[in-house]
Amino acid sequence: MKNYIKADEWNIVEEGFDPHLNKISESLFSIGNGRMGQRANFEEDYTGETLQGNYVAGVYYPDKTRVGWWKNGYPEYFAKVLNATNWIGLNIQIDGETLDLNTATVGDFKRVLNMKEGTLSRHFTAKLKSGKMVQVESIRFCSIVDDEVAALHYRIKALNFKGQISITSFIDGDVKNQDSNYDEKFWEEVAQQQEKNTDYLVLRTKKTEFDVCTVSQTSIFKNAELQTLSPVTKDKYLGQQASFAVVQNEVIDLYKIAANLSSQNYDKSDLLSAAKATILKAAEKGFEQLKQEQAIAWAQKWEEGDIVIEGDVAAQQAIRFNIFQLNQTYTGKDARLNIGPKGFTGEKYGGSTYWDTEAYCIPFYLSVAPQEVAKNLLVYRYKHLDKAIENATKLGFNNGAALYPMVTMNGEECHNEWEITFEEIHRNGAIAFAIFNYIRYTGDERYLADYGLEVLIGIARFWKQRVNWSAERNKFVMLGVTGPNEYENNINNNWYTNKLAAWCLTYATEAAEKVKSLDPEQYLKIVEKTKLQEMSEFKDWNSVATQMYYPYHEGEEVFLQQDGFMDKEQILVKDLPADQRPLNQKWSWDRILRSCYIKQADVLQGMYFFEEEFDLETLRRNFNFYESRTVHESSLSPCVHSILAAKLNDEEKAYEFYLRTARLDLDDYNNDTEDGLHITSMAGTWMSVVEGFAGMRVKEDKLAFQPFLPKNWAAFSFTIGFRGLQLKVQINESELIITNHSEESLTLRVFEQEYAVPPGEKTIAYKTSLV
Ligand code: BGC
Repeated sequence: MKNYIKADEWNIVEEGFDPHLNKISESLFSIGNGRMGQRANFEEDYTGETLQGNYVAGVYYPDKTRVGWWKNGYPEYFAKVLNATNWIGLNIQIDGETLDLNTATVGDFKRVLNMKEGTLSRHFTAKLKSGKMVQVESIRFCSIVDDEVAALHYRIKALNFKGQISITSFIDGDVKNQDSNYDEKFWEEVAQQQEKNTDYLVLRTKKTEFDVCTVSQTSIFKNAELQTLSPVTKDKYLGQQASFAVVQNEVIDLYKIAANLSSQNYDKSDLLSAAKATILKAAEKGFEQLKQEQAIAWAQKWEEGDIVIEGDVAAQQAIRFNIFQLNQTYTGKDARLNIGPKGFTGEKYGGSTYWDTEAYCIPFYLSVAPQEVAKNLLVYRYKHLDKAIENATKLGFNNGAALYPMVTMNGEECHNEWEITFEEIHRNGAIAFAIFNYIRYTGDERYLADYGLEVLIGIARFWKQRVNWSAERNKFVMLGVTGPNEYENNINNNWYTNKLAAWCLTYATEAAEKVKSLDPEQYLKIVEKTKLQEMSEFKDWNSVATQMYYPYHEGEEVFLQQDGFMDKEQILVKDLPADQRPLNQKWSWDRILRSCYIKQADVLQGMYFFEEEFDLETLRRNFNFYESRTVHESSLSPCVHSILAAKLNDEEKAYEFYLRTARLDLDDYNNDTEDGLHITSMAGTWMSVVEGFAGMRVKEDKLAFQPFLPKNWAAFSFTIGFRGLQLKVQINESELIITNHSEESLTLRVFEQEYAVPPGEKTIAYKTSLV
């Protein structure tokens, strides 16, 4: 755990330069705009520890799989998000000596991520070996207005000398991924072009053949005079270079406007001309205007989805950091894109899509972004349906059964550990649940007819075939699975998976009925396309759903995570010596698998999804039983526990779990922030506030709240959109104040009581009902 980020409501601030923390800061201060993003690498050369990262959404490389023992059904490759051309590069020489913060003496260092306006800035002084000192101020951003564009302003001042400053402003595509399986470079050069002060570099990914054109225009001013630059070229590298005689206190200003255009959006033959048009347009606006537009666009985002916490700056900073990073990662403009667990902040997890999106991210985007955004996340899976069917077929399923991949870029499975690839199949259920969740929130039943039903049919067919009848139990059972708790593999009858499967089968039938009445013509088309045998398939689905086996422990009166769970030695986490944790670093896998310790919500994940089926006593018993065995070694774990604890009125626990999720990266709680941020769990943090502390749910088409105010806070508020209405919800110790910014009234529930809320503000007194 670290504690070096300064508390501030709108900014992430690092003061003083500690090279040991640099990789963590590179992750924390990452910037992005949904289409591209980058780690907070320095513009100038840096020979210290760094993970260089520039990423272009959707551009990946199928890195050939490396596994010890090949199993039939394994994917051939792991799709990796690529470290792409570095557009910020500046090589700075002071009388022939390179400016490098690893070798210089650094003073007055400050790095700021301004979340209000979406910029990253840095300030420092550097004393070189020669004794010459410079002062640097830089600010850069990836535009969320034009998501192909990024910009940088870099100012350098000679502090104590008269001499020569040389600057080469470059774009460099000769980059690698640290996680490359065979130490291979993934890019080949297609074209270079230089025109005046503008560099164009077109690179192509090997195998996948994505072309990306990076263009950068550099302008350097000395004493407000634009300088002439000389072109420099190397393999996969282009630059603009100039040398200046400076006297003490003289300042040089460098502006760099850049863009990344990918062949996903243009014909390859048009890429260069499109890049020219883009850079021309951006350059016409210039740095200051682009920056102003950025601030306005971010103000709009905050208007739609801020959370304000009064009386606790650290909590305020944390929640804004989570919201900011989510908005930087996914904007919903493009249904081919998704949310990698590390977003644009690192290589780990390949930048690919996991069940995290459906289980954790959908509620966030549903509430804080236009409906299209969450819809696009669902459509992404619709577009991958054929691949999911192919994937299931490869594993021996038939009749259009679909198994969505555990990890994917383009719909194909990328994961290759048998216990996850073949067994962690609950992901299929999360995809169906997200459809349900989307419709519950938006009321957009049309989605089922247009996209959802086909997906649900494929998923239902999979579950139907994945179970088998146990004559012994006289029930359907599901053998050989891994639940969300990955600290158990190849188990039988994971309660969560069985529950989810049964629910999917029922929901698919209900969805079919719905589409049939909503749009009979479309229904027939779907029946034809999917070759659905209505009578027999619905009957089969129903029979599995109603005769599913659910493990239960009579003594503890809890749903049993899986068959045989109680055979394990039941030593609670509180009795585990602290030096044994985290288990995944301290224990062998074998020992973990034999233990009762749980990585993340499993039974409790199911109780969270289907909460209306369980009374509070049942929830409490299961919560107490499972939480005391849970080590929360997945970043996705604390948020679900926080929400459930809030529901159980265990305010202290709810807050404790909230803190673990909210500042997970800022405080480097799991010692892994340097690899990148836990983007998908950030949505869970948002859920902990909105679904946890505010207790927000959608029940029978209405918003419902069961709020409480965490002890350390004076009040909190958040903004959401709901079915065309724009709402602000403020919660203090005894009141929920709702502001309806729309023209229409709405009805909402606070602790079981209904209230009509006309346009304007309404105060509703509440009392937390202790249970
Ligand atoms: C979790 C998975 C999750 C993945 C990516 C793993 O540690 O156990 O549930 O999908 O991380 O976030």
